[in-house]
Amino acid sequence: MTHAHITSWFITIVLFFIAVLMQRQGAGKAKIVQMVLRLFYILTIATGVFLLHSIASISTLYWLKALAGLWVIGAMEMVLAAEKKGKSAAAGWTQWVIALVVTLFLGLLLPLGFDLF
Ligand code: HEM
Repeated sequence: MTHAHITSWFITIVLFFIAVLMQRQGAGKAKIVQMVLRLFYILTIATGVFLLHSIASISTLYWLKALAGLWVIGAMEMVLAAEKKGKSAAAGWTQWVIALVVTLFLGLLLPLGFDLF
């Protein structure tokens, strides 16, 4: 399940960048990319919940990891919504970077999956 989770959030991030670029160009197909992106949000959340479910005693750090992961997704939606309205997406981007760093740090710190530390 860890590999499914990693594959899922990786594709989510790639699709997010494609969606931002397409939206900036005003491409009509940006909507389709956003729909697929939302499907991958669900897959990322579902695989994350499966991982949580597989843990016998969930410590606070796991909840923080899950919250931070949801925050990354929320920030992506903020960026896309702000750019669509032609408003500044700076707040969304700042949150996205912070949330992603926190999520990756906690994800890699916690013991499941690849042991990088
Ligand atoms: C874009 C969003 C997300 C990113 C970038 C992300 C990233 C990661 C990373 C890097 C790992 C570590 C994998 C490993 O050690 O091999 C991980 C594990 C995990 N993620 Fe996520 N994640 C995201 C969303 C979520 C969500 C929404 C949830 C829960 C609802 C979640 C729950 C978990 C859990 C429970 C683990 C296992 C922790 C462990 O390694 O022991 N993640 N994630």
